[in-house]
Amino acid sequence: MNPDLAKLQPYPFQKLAELKSEVSAPATLEPVALSIGEPQHPTPHFINEELLTHLHGLANYPITRGSAGLREAVTAWATRRFALPAASLDPERHALPVNGTREALFAFAQAVIDRNREPLVLMPNPFYQIYEGAALLAGAEPYYLNCHPAQGFLPDFDNVPDEVWARCQLLYLCTPGNPTGAVMSQAQLQALIEKAERHDFVIASDECYSEIYFEEASPPPGLLGAAASMGNTDYRRCVVFHSLSKRSNAPGLRSGFVAGDAEILERFHLYRTYHGCALPPPVQAASIKAWGDEAHVRENRALYREKFDAMLEILAPVMEVERPDAGFYLWPRTPIDDTQFAQRLFAEQHVTVLPGSYLSREVNGENPGRNRVRMALVAPLDDCVEAAQRIRVFIEKL
Ligand SMILES: Cc1ncc(COP(=O)(O)O)c(C=O)c1O
Repeated sequence: MNPDLAKLQPYPFQKLAELKSEVSAPATLEPVALSIGEPQHPTPHFINEELLTHLHGLANYPITRGSAGLREAVTAWATRRFALPAASLDPERHALPVNGTREALFAFAQAVIDRNREPLVLMPNPFYQIYEGAALLAGAEPYYLNCHPAQGFLPDFDNVPDEVWARCQLLYLCTPGNPTGAVMSQAQLQALIEKAERHDFVIASDECYSEIYFEEASPPPGLLGAAASMGNTDYRRCVVFHSLSKRSNAPGLRSGFVAGDAEILERFHLYRTYHGCALPPPVQAASIKAWGDEAHVRENRALYREKFDAMLEILAPVMEVERPDAGFYLWPRTPIDDTQFAQRLFAEQHVTVLPGSYLSREVNGENPGRNRVRMALVAPLDDCVEAAQRIRVFIEKL
């Protein structure tokens, strides 16, 4: 077997299941899960309908590059959303559909990394665990960049030593961040694009939460917009990852796209033809419709806004918790150890949250997720309010 498989860490939810198995929850209280980042608002009817309408189109193998219609839909969406210069994103060269960003984020490292040059893959800490597994199975060493509240929960890129940049082949960004919700500014993204030029590495910007934000007038910036506004209109060294899972409440559709540097995407396409991951034709058809509509995305944002307002009002008096820049997670500090907090909250109130230390690694004696928990505001409003009230009671009794 591939010895690198032994380097993979257990998934955070496996650790959480073990933590919960040591106690039992009160049967008198309905369970509420704030642990999994799975959207639970209904998938828009028109997306389901479009999928059904095309269910008969299963007689041909779809191609890895996806239909021209899908590539046009995603490049048109990205051009509108990030105010890119007209025609700078060519559907023929600058975009590929993917079966959700998870597989794409993993596969991307396999295509990008040259394992013969002591590669480093840089990533935020805490982070989405796929980045780490992708780096390890690509034969690279993960390099974790701690995210602290003092820096707005963003990595301190200025203090990364030059010898680290020299070995960096791939930098994963997550903006808006999971679990922190931190959004990188356009200037911060541009500084990294300059670093990528100087030190010859690729930036993979995971922007799958980019459509969940608070102010309709100020959506989070993205890497392609940052590149274009510094004159990098061929998106050299930049690749973004977008998904319908959170934007359109369709995680089961397994549909997203990557866009950016045409040379990199050409090599990634070659990799993907072997990987074997074309999107089924009905999924492509439904995705075209989804990327073409913004009304359902605005409604989706309104629902999250309501939940943040309600939960913050209940929790802010009893714990250190802030509204994130974007995304659908709260990342509060816990008054006791995060694993204890999660376990006792489950045992006393039947509410599940994810310990922050399960989402991050210890670097220089410090785990930046310690004494924080991640709460996903995915359940319906009433369940979120119920959970917040129980968390408050739990904290008040500590
Ligand atoms: C940061 C981040 N990236 C990527 C994904 C994968 O999403 P999908 O594969 O559904 O597009 C997730 C899912 O939870 C996530 O939290």
